Amino acid sequence: MKKIEAIIKPYKIEEIKNSLVEIGIHGMTVTYVEGFGSQGGHTEIYRTSEIAVSFLPKIKIEVVVDDDKVDSVNNAIIKHAKTGSIGDGKIFVYNIENAIRIRTEEEGSVAL
Ligand SMILES: Nc1ncnc2c1ncn2[C@@H]1O[C@H](COP(=O)(O)OP(=O)(O)OP(=O)(O)O)[C@@H](O)[C@H]1O
Ligand SMILES: [Mg+2]
Repeated sequence: MKKIEAIIKPYKIEEIKNSLVEIGIHGMTVTYVEGFGSQGGHTEIYRTSEIAVSFLPKIKIEVVVDDDKVDSVNNAIIKHAKTGSIGDGKIFVYNIENAIRIRTEEEGSVAL
């Protein structure tokens, strides 16, 4: 299993959620976060490094899936999050040791 963590522009969340549900994802967590990337939280690229870095609002999506779904989840996120402008976001992929559905005590990918 893998966890896909995607940091995206907030206004894209509905579209991305719908596309993930369409490809058969039945659980995800979202968190309203703040962050900055290479431009230090600015919407334009400045030549000086003297401009203060600031946080921009972003949404973090976390989805845990079977290994064979990683590519389709990444592709769905990219398809809907990409505008081609700076700040489109980033995807991080983590290995997941285990998952447990508390109600039934099922473990592993059946618990997803
Ligand atoms: N190396 C990182 N570690 C943790 N979070 C990051 C990292 N890079 C980006 N993020 C998160 O992702 C958000 C979006 O990053 P962003 O898309 O601006 O990345 P970038 O590398 O600057 O790419 P671009 O040049 O396309 O803007 C940031 O606001 C931050 O929350
Ligand atoms: Mg950036």
